[in-house]
Formats: sequence, structure tokens, C-alpha cells
Amino acid sequence: MRVLVTGGTGNVGVAAVRCLAEAGHEVTVAALESGPAIESVTYRHCDVTDFDAIRPLADGHDALVHLAAINNPVGRPGHHVFGVNACSTFNVFEAAAEAGIERVVAASSINALGFFYGDRSVALPYLPVDEDVPGCATDAYSFSKQITERIAGYFFDRDRISSVLLRLPAVLHHEQLIEARSRDERRAPAPLTEELLSSADSEREARLDRLHEAYDRLRRSNRLDKRNDMRFSTDELQAFGLSPEEYRLMFQLANFFAYVDELDSAQAIDRALTASFEGSHPLYVCAARNSAGYPVAELAKLYHPSVPEVREQTPGDDCLISIDRARSLIGFDPQWVV
Ligand SMILES: NC(=O)c1ccc[n+]([C@@H]2O[C@H](COP(=O)([O-])OP(=O)(O)OC[C@H]3O[C@@H](n4cnc5c(N)ncnc54)[C@H](O)[C@@H]3O)[C@@H](O)[C@H]2O)c1
Repeated sequence: MRVLVTGGTGNVGVAAVRCLAEAGHEVTVAALESGPAIESVTYRHCDVTDFDAIRPLADGHDALVHLAAINNPVGRPGHHVFGVNACSTFNVFEAAAEAGIERVVAASSINALGFFYGDRSVALPYLPVDEDVPGCATDAYSFSKQITERIAGYFFDRDRISSVLLRLPAVLHHEQLIEARSRDERRAPAPLTEELLSSADSEREARLDRLHEAYDRLRRSNRLDKRNDMRFSTDELQAFGLSPEEYRLMFQLANFFAYVDELDSAQAIDRALTASFEGSHPLYVCAARNSAGYPVAELAKLYHPSVPEVREQTPGDDCLISIDRARSLIGFDPQWVV
């Protein structure tokens, strides 16, 4: 298959392009920045917010992978994040339509749910979260991902372009994941979870209510488009009644203790290109086990006590984000856990 990959020189793109090239696809990369050159891959400098630049590159390709984007809202004006992400996605699909391409795989994000970068928590009807749980975006990046998914739907309705919008969580470099695993390092602060688990019900509930309230207040007061990073000093955290460890826990919790190895995100892209399906489909893809290292039933009971239902997932999977739909639609089968 001849595949055009936008943003193929970034965090997600390099592993994806390598995987596609190794799988025998003929790959062209269109990106603003250069990256490591992968043998047999053709590289083109292109700004995808410029339709006239991306349009001719689409010719002669069978499929398109769209990864070019601003990958988080931190320190960037919302209109810029939204403008680049929404405009580039429209351009890429429009170019695909004009070039007769019928399959597009694009990066959405776990943030289409609006939980992590947003101003507040989102009420969840059940766990694990799946694609039917409605999102509530309160930051430009998450909103741009919701719009990415809407654009894909529009181009299915209009041109019958079938697409997958991958709702990726944090994508870890493979070496990073192996290193974390070799040190048996959990990414979430286990001592705090232990402390919460061993405290009396009323004490635990009160502490968690306080943590949620403090974390929501912190993020409402610190819009990420006005900050340069998400690192808060001990004093800043203290002003909201949070210790650094509590902040780290809430940060992980707002990410559903989810992550994916770059090799697995590359696998999802490859499978989404070749699987047999029609329509436009947002799909969560993540590692099959959560990074907290506790069973989902326990995490749900501890951290989401007001969520009324915990649903079954594929035996062996243990995540707060369901990957069942990705398993069944494209045959996603993640191999790597920390
Ligand atoms: N990295 C993650 O953990 C993560 C998690 C969830 C979703 N995503 C999504 O995956 C996609 C890729 O993210 P990433 O982390 O690889 O980003 P990155 O910043 O590492 O790379 C971005 C890529 O897009 C290109 N690019 C940016 N603006 C462009 C433009 N106007 N024209 C052409 N190329 C442009 C860059 O040259 C680069 O190749 C994004 O849509 C991002 O939102 C990433």
C-alpha cells in the first residue's frame, strides 16, 4: 500500500513510519520538521495547514495517516492549537477525497474525553470508559480532537472515506517503557494508593473528595494555555492544599493510568489501514494493563466510588479505558506493558 503520513517525524510518527515501512508499505512523510531518516521512506517538507501544499502530495497514495498536529495545549493560545489541529485535519481529508483515497487513519486523543487538560472532571456513567461515554471538552486541544472526529464523520458522509481516529493516551518510547519495567517502576505513586486503601471508609472518602475538589480548583485557576508547563512548585500546590505526591496521583488519575508503547500505537495505525470496515470510528487504544498496578475493580472502587457500574472487559485486560472496540474492529492487540 502507498501511504502518505503527515507528522511522520514526531513522537508517534517515527515508530509508526518504521513499522509501516517494515510491513512493506511504500511510505511518504509530509512534515514541518525533519527527524531520523528511515530507509526507503520519502520525506517532503510541507505545512498541512496550507491546503495547496498538502493536496498534490496526496496523489498516487492509497491511504493517508494524519499525525501532524500540536500535541498538547500547554503554553499555546487556544486559537492556535484549535486552528492548526482542526484546519490540518480538514485539509488532509479534503486532499484525500480529491485524490480518491478511501482510507484515513488520524490521531485523536484520549483527551477527546476532555478529562485531563480540561478545567474539571467529567462525570462517568461506567468504567472502563469506552467510545460511547460522552466527552466534555473545556480546553482547545481536547476540543480540537473532538472536531477531528467530527471532520472524519463528515468525510465519510460526503465522500465515503472510511477512517479510524485513534484516541491515544501518553505514547511512551519503547526504551522508556522497558527501562521503567526493568526497575519495576510504577508510574503512579503506589504508597499513596496503599495509604488510601488501608484507611477507614469515611476517612478515605473525605480525603478523596478533598483531592478532587483541590485538583479541579488548581486546574481551573491555571488554564494550561496560560502556563508553560504542568510542573507546579510545592508552594503553588500547597496553596491548593495538595502535596506533590497527591498532585502526581491526581495527574495520573486524570489520565486513567493509561499509556501505550510507541510500537503498539504503530501497530494500531498499521491495522487501522488494512482492516476491513466502513465508517468513521474513534477508537481508544492503550496498553492492556493500567500503570497503577492494581486491578481495575479495586481502582474503580477506590478512585471512582460514584461511578455506578464497572463493566467486564476482555479477559486479561485490566484498564480503566476499554480497548475492546479496537480489538474487534481492527484487531488491535497491544504487546507492551510497564
Ligand atoms: N505523543 C503523545 O503522547 C500523544 C498522545 C495522544 C495523542 N497524540 C496525538 O498524536 C499526534 C502526533 O503527536 P506527536 O506527539 O507525535 O507530536 P510531535 O509534536 O512529536 O510531532 C508532530 C509532528 O507533526 C508535524 N507538524 C506539526 N505541525 C505541522 C504542520 N503545520 N504541517 C506539517 N507538519 C506539522 C511535526 O513536524 C512533527 O512531525 C498528534 O495528533 C497528537 O495530538 C499524541
